Amino acid sequence: MHAITAILALAAGSVIAAPVDTVAERATATELNTAAKAAGKVYFGTAVDNGDLGNSQYTSEEKNTADFGQITPANSMKWDAIEASRGKFTYTQGDVIANLAKTNGQKLRCHNLVWHNQLPSWVSSGNFDNATLISIMKNHITNEVTHYKGQCYAWDVVNEAINDDGSGTLRSDPFHNTIGPAYLPIAFATAHAADPSAKLYYNDYNIETLGVKSTAAQNIVKMIKAYGAPIDGVGLQSHFVSGSTPTTAQQVANMNAFTALGVDVAITELDIRVKTPETSAELTQQATDYSSTIKACKQVSRCVGVTLWDWNDKNSWVPGTFPGYGAATPWDTNFQKKTAVYNAIISAWQS
Ligand code: XIL
Repeated sequence: MHAITAILALAAGSVIAAPVDTVAERATATELNTAAKAAGKVYFGTAVDNGDLGNSQYTSEEKNTADFGQITPANSMKWDAIEASRGKFTYTQGDVIANLAKTNGQKLRCHNLVWHNQLPSWVSSGNFDNATLISIMKNHITNEVTHYKGQCYAWDVVNEAINDDGSGTLRSDPFHNTIGPAYLPIAFATAHAADPSAKLYYNDYNIETLGVKSTAAQNIVKMIKAYGAPIDGVGLQSHFVSGSTPTTAQQVANMNAFTALGVDVAITELDIRVKTPETSAELTQQATDYSSTIKACKQVSRCVGVTLWDWNDKNSWVPGTFPGYGAATPWDTNFQKKTAVYNAIISAWQS
């Protein structure tokens, strides 16, 4: 029953009122993506890696659009996967993920175009001069964005450009060292020219609370705009440690600092790692921590969605990257839902 019908029914002496109807509608949103959308978000999603697609337990959940309305390729659209040697573009693996999104009706966040990691040595050790590296970067962006034109809800155009040493300075990498800070606006302008309808994001970690690195990311947004290039959003990666995740209020204040600059924000790579072997107390804390972050996105209207990096502990990058930590996602290593975490996310969307 629509609210207006409910009001009329109420006026006619019926006991049915609009709020009952609203509650009933919300009660149907009991999965991650349906609950996010009921909260007004564009999507809830997950990273997907090509190497995991051989497992049917993995693929049956990955394509469950009630939970995941959006996917991001974990690796197969990065520079080393796409242009391993100069001018030779290979889209086979990236296309697998793009086609999954298409077949399943999921939005695709395309990730990423310019990054100091997973950059082939022909670029990182090429010692190119300014004009040549600009042309290499523009060629890479134009070729890849054109290939996926119309398929990407958003592109992470530049990933992790800021030093993580507390200085707030731009990283020493081939792009910054050779081209200077202008590589950022050049990258964004080039991506925009190739696919004007894709939303263009700057994406980084440790920019989820106010502080030196977040300010540096805000300055990147301002700089890109000052050069006259478009930027639509900032991706807050959100690779957190359980027990020391930022509060909802801290994350909201930080998101507001970005949206005040006229850009969207998205939580692009959420995982919350715990010390392994995990205890039940740690998993309870983890559920609270997931809730804090989801509530922050819920409260900020320009926070468009949340992406998990990955949805299960078996395929998560965490144990391999942070020794002694794991269990970072809402599903365990046997693809079993951690009910407390899963339900905490749903409740947070409904809060
Ligand atoms: C990670 C992948 O998940 C791993 O499989 C890979 O070995 C390294 O990269 N920030 C990012 C992501 O922007 O691209 C990274 O993904 C995780 C950190």
